[in-house]
Amino acid sequence: MVSDMSGLEDLFAAALAARQRAYAPYSRFPVGAALRAESGAVYAGCNVENAAYPLGVCAETAAISAMIAAGERRIAEILVVGPGPGRIAPCGACRQRIAEFGAGALVHLADEQGAIETFALADLLPRAFGPESLKT
Ligand code: THU
Repeated sequence: MVSDMSGLEDLFAAALAARQRAYAPYSRFPVGAALRAESGAVYAGCNVENAAYPLGVCAETAAISAMIAAGERRIAEILVVGPGPGRIAPCGACRQRIAEFGAGALVHLADEQGAIETFALADLLPRAFGPESLKT
């Protein structure tokens, strides 16, 4: 279901600002992500590519790194915005990284106008392997 960005204005603004600073000279596909941690604080990230292509880092991963560096561990919700005109969803690797810190997180996919589609991470990454899986 597509909805407007009410309640998500701060995440949308932070993701757009980060996307503006993306370093994506190879794909020309700038992405911004912003997450709300358990404390309510917002952390943002953008994709950072590299001439050695596989070393590029996704926006979601960068936002998670910012959260961890600030001393937090739990993601309540995360929003991602690509270059448009449509919405993009996190890649498989980023879904797994989100799951590490927010198995119950909401994932908001925004277009450039702020029209948003929301999913539970568990629906984007069903039957996930996670920290609990290591407890035998
Ligand atoms: N990318 C992200 O940063 N997040 C996504 O959700 C999908 C893809 C980046 C990786 C790469 O720098 C560029 O977008 C094209 O794949």
